[in-house]
Amino acid sequence: MHHLIIHPDVKKSRIEKEVYGNFSEHLGRCIYGGVYVGENSDIPNVNGMRTDVVEALREMKLPVLRWPGGCFADEYHWKDGIGPKETRKKMINTHWGGVVEDNSFGTHEFFELCRQIGCEPYVNGNVGSGSVREMNEWIEYMTFDGLSPLAGMRAENGSEKPWKLKYFAVGNENWGCGGSMRPEYYADQFRRYATYCRNYGDNKLFKIACGPSDDDQNWTDVLMREAGKYMNGLSMHYYTVPHDWQNKGSATEFNEEDWYITLYKALKIGEIIRHHKNIMDRWDPEGKVALVVDEWGTWYDVEPGTNPGFLYQQNTMRDALVAGLSLNIFNENSDRVKMANIAQLANVLQSVVLTEGEKMVKTPTYYVFRMFSAHQGATLLGSVMDQETIGTEYPVPDVTESASLAEDGSVTVSLNNLSVTEEKTVEIALAGKAITAAEGEILTGPMNAHNTFDAPDTVKPAAMEGLEVPDGKLVVKLPAASVCVLKLTVG
Ligand code: AHR
Repeated sequence: MHHLIIHPDVKKSRIEKEVYGNFSEHLGRCIYGGVYVGENSDIPNVNGMRTDVVEALREMKLPVLRWPGGCFADEYHWKDGIGPKETRKKMINTHWGGVVEDNSFGTHEFFELCRQIGCEPYVNGNVGSGSVREMNEWIEYMTFDGLSPLAGMRAENGSEKPWKLKYFAVGNENWGCGGSMRPEYYADQFRRYATYCRNYGDNKLFKIACGPSDDDQNWTDVLMREAGKYMNGLSMHYYTVPHDWQNKGSATEFNEEDWYITLYKALKIGEIIRHHKNIMDRWDPEGKVALVVDEWGTWYDVEPGTNPGFLYQQNTMRDALVAGLSLNIFNENSDRVKMANIAQLANVLQSVVLTEGEKMVKTPTYYVFRMFSAHQGATLLGSVMDQETIGTEYPVPDVTESASLAEDGSVTVSLNNLSVTEEKTVEIALAGKAITAAEGEILTGPMNAHNTFDAPDTVKPAAMEGLEVPDGKLVVKLPAASVCVLKLTVG
């Protein structure tokens, strides 16, 4: 049996709600078909946004959504996506399948989507193929309240009032698809572009610089040294690819060895975050610059028969575990990690929802996000637990945990059982205090279990039965391959 001791008086950092964010790109069927179907669609919608998807995201308490990319962001020209839809300029989406993008989903539609979901918008600007002027004008268009040519254009297009925009990224992956830049060059470009990202009225931008890929510590070092004082956040991208980029592996057809390889690689994100944090601590000891993990998640081979450029993949219990262990890691690093955005929202990579025509399914990853939402805005608590190492060539801890204190005084505990074969038992105690009541949800199933359009409820959480707290302690049994979130009432 494992022993988890939570210290309710050891209050650490605030877990910002934005850590539970999502990412949406003009890629495959993420935007078109995934969230946006247009006003004239037979699929139930409000102003073109799918009602089923919006409702699911509200229920999941999605706090922030990043858009329009990704690699797409650095070839996106925002003026092509405003005005009457019939006259919007079409473009080729060169990164993702070479399909024609008709720009019918643009700035106004994105803010409308965020309004319906009730989440913060996070807009990613174009450095790679854009200009300082284009970025500066986009910000004026979105946020200026008063008489200006751009604000006038926005009003003509139907939005008299400006939107509130906090999160703005100055380029994406500028070391790669966003311009193949060296860190020294990008650092200077960031300083230049960021200068013209103006704060209009009381709208204050939180400017996010393009950060490292994976463990590229040199990028972080140069960016922090040369541009740290001009930014509010530095992004970081890390994808869990079970094998290699040529043969990533199937999303659903995998064995136990693949299970452990995937979880082992997913856990690497903790190590990588620590490396970047150490560098950031050196240049920014006061912790003013946030680490923004604005792309993360699993990346497998596409589903057989689908467009390779669309990155459509299924989602199993293995993805639920990747989500659960990653979110626990973000909680543990919430002193620096102030936002994270899983890739991507719908029909692309590790999605929370999948759609096909009028049908929609919630994935196992969706349920993990919904269950973990109790951590949003809570305070991370000190906790210790003994762990066993399992897996042979790819060792992983058998159980991972995270605990936080909610505003109402209750304690949220999230636990993941990474063992694919064995049930685990955990005794939970609060140092110096008693647990007086407990409730919780558990998500579990065979490792390959997933939801399909014909069987949408194969994997879904269940309420935990028989949670008793004799002597102020709680003993929980975690089935093999499971994610559990508990709410503890403190005596
Ligand atoms: O999420 C898919 C792609 O992965 C994004 O467009 C890019 O930023 C990253 O390489």
